[in-house]
Amino acid sequence: ATVTVHADQIRFPVSPTLYGLFFEEISHAGDGGIYAELIRNRSFEDTLVPDRCHVEDCMLHSPAGWVSPFDHSDPIPGWIMQMTEGCEAEIKLDDAFPLNETNPLSLKVEAASVPHGRVSVCNTGFWGIPVRSGETYNLSFYAKKTDGFQGELEITLEDRSGNLYASSSVTLTSSEWRKYELTLVSDRDESEAMLAFSSRSAGTFWLELVSLFPRATFLHRKNGLRPDLVGMLQQLKPSFLRFPGGCFVEGFSVETAYRWKKTIGDISERTSHWTLWHYRTTNGLGYHEYLQMAEDMGLYMMFVVNCGLTCQGRPGELIPMEELGEWVQDMLDAIEYANGPVTGYWGSLRAKNGHPEPFGLKYLEIGNENFGPEYNRRYQVFYEAVKEKYPEIVTIWNTHWEVGTETKDLPVEIVDEHFYADNDFYQQYHDMYDHYDRNGPKIYVGEYAMIAGNKSGTLLGALSEAAFMTGMERNQDLVTMSSYAPLFANIHHTVWDPSLIYFDGTKVYGTPSFHIQKMFGEHRGELVVDSHVTSESRSADLYGGLGAMEKELDRIRDLVVKRGGETLLRLDHLTGSPQQCREFHGTLWIGDPSWRQYDVSAKVILGSEGIRLRLLDRHQPWDKQNYLLWEL
Ligand code: AHR
Repeated sequence: ATVTVHADQIRFPVSPTLYGLFFEEISHAGDGGIYAELIRNRSFEDTLVPDRCHVEDCMLHSPAGWVSPFDHSDPIPGWIMQMTEGCEAEIKLDDAFPLNETNPLSLKVEAASVPHGRVSVCNTGFWGIPVRSGETYNLSFYAKKTDGFQGELEITLEDRSGNLYASSSVTLTSSEWRKYELTLVSDRDESEAMLAFSSRSAGTFWLELVSLFPRATFLHRKNGLRPDLVGMLQQLKPSFLRFPGGCFVEGFSVETAYRWKKTIGDISERTSHWTLWHYRTTNGLGYHEYLQMAEDMGLYMMFVVNCGLTCQGRPGELIPMEELGEWVQDMLDAIEYANGPVTGYWGSLRAKNGHPEPFGLKYLEIGNENFGPEYNRRYQVFYEAVKEKYPEIVTIWNTHWEVGTETKDLPVEIVDEHFYADNDFYQQYHDMYDHYDRNGPKIYVGEYAMIAGNKSGTLLGALSEAAFMTGMERNQDLVTMSSYAPLFANIHHTVWDPSLIYFDGTKVYGTPSFHIQKMFGEHRGELVVDSHVTSESRSADLYGGLGAMEKELDRIRDLVVKRGGETLLRLDHLTGSPQQCREFHGTLWIGDPSWRQYDVSAKVILGSEGIRLRLLDRHQPWDKQNYLLWEL
């Protein structure tokens, strides 16, 4: 192949925001991830699962396979009891003495008999509490006791064999909730320590909101972030942070949707909620912390707001238009919290939470992966409300895989396009943005990753993404922003493969895609100049982008497949265009003479062996649809 570069033919300057980050609370990216809290199930609500999760529609079919919503066998996740032989004790969740409205459950520890030794209740962290020699850990918890409980509580960092790393003690003084705070300094390294509360005398006490943070968080912030994971993000040289989701924002019901107002203030006041990704989030990493994370990393902030539609694909719930006001107000208040003056209500709350200066939220995405007329009606209401009060905020419309959700007649500044596809797609569509309308909205490729058969990231997948990214680079007058997804996965609870960065309590690594993102992020340049690639090879022709695709498409319009004179398959009325989307819609007829009819979507793939057609049977429930593959 020959690459010709016309250095004197300047097309346009680079987009300074081309590469950014999309952070979502998925696969424990936040809790048990970048949020440095070491205690799992710190306020004992992890087993509060919405009713709908007990039916199959809550199951997730992700590229990682079918994932069960929760582990029924673990009654109090993260917590275990240990006692010396001869002692009698039990622990249970208790709703009799809620700390406050947002914390309904606490842990009741009943030590009936402690003739010798001790009774301990231990938190095992997010698959182990990692401690480091010389490191200080800040512990806080609420406790209360019955009058009969005279004892001290020994508080230790130790392992399952009883090896001790740090110790302290408190005397419980009250039969009402009281907050206790202390520090522990570890004298050794250990990746699977536990935090233990032990009593050497009988009696009953309760624990609530147990929180343990290393002092050494990113920039030493309280309620802060894991420096090693932030360090990985910094290596990518990003320019913006989109947060907090994703489907996480949508939820699969109103109850599971993200409501930012429940995620600010003292951690004891925040409401935890069940996420669409099959675990409960503490919301300790809340709206304020996301803004702070972006500011601390020098990034533009992009908040994704729920627009009154929960995840349409699951299927979700829809807030009626006449009840949309509360949701619109939530969005306006979010902007006011981030950017308003301290003299206003929301600005003063921001100051109270430690940030008097405005954060400078710049982008607002209205909904995530919502589509169709219901979305467009709601989008319009949100758009008008935000532009009336905050015209400087840049809004983002979002789209889906469906053809026919064009933005025409809508006031759209930026469209967020998502792609989860295979190697062929990323290689063939490297030039798809060459063909986009320059008079339409700008494009934000908000989520993309090579997923097919790509358990935890492969070099070929990364190279395919790189091919596609060259198309974004070449068209960055139009594609002004992009972000890979998902960003993080804890290897102990991965609901989506591949993610860009995998980690456990102490270790972290980037996939080949991480290194591609890093390479592109590090080498931004200043101007885009004219360039051409020419090649004689067949594969270059096949991967020749849309030109080649258009030619091949003629072959499959009104397609009839016969075997031995019998018609096996007929595809009528194929519509859709590669510029818009990589899916085509048509009617598939199978069998002769009875003709069973299916509505299908077809993915047309040009491979080195010729043309392949993938058909998606829309009659199956959305999460059971499979692509049937015909080689032509
Ligand atoms: O990145 C994982 C999920 O993929 C996001 O939550 C959603 O927007 C998309 O479907």
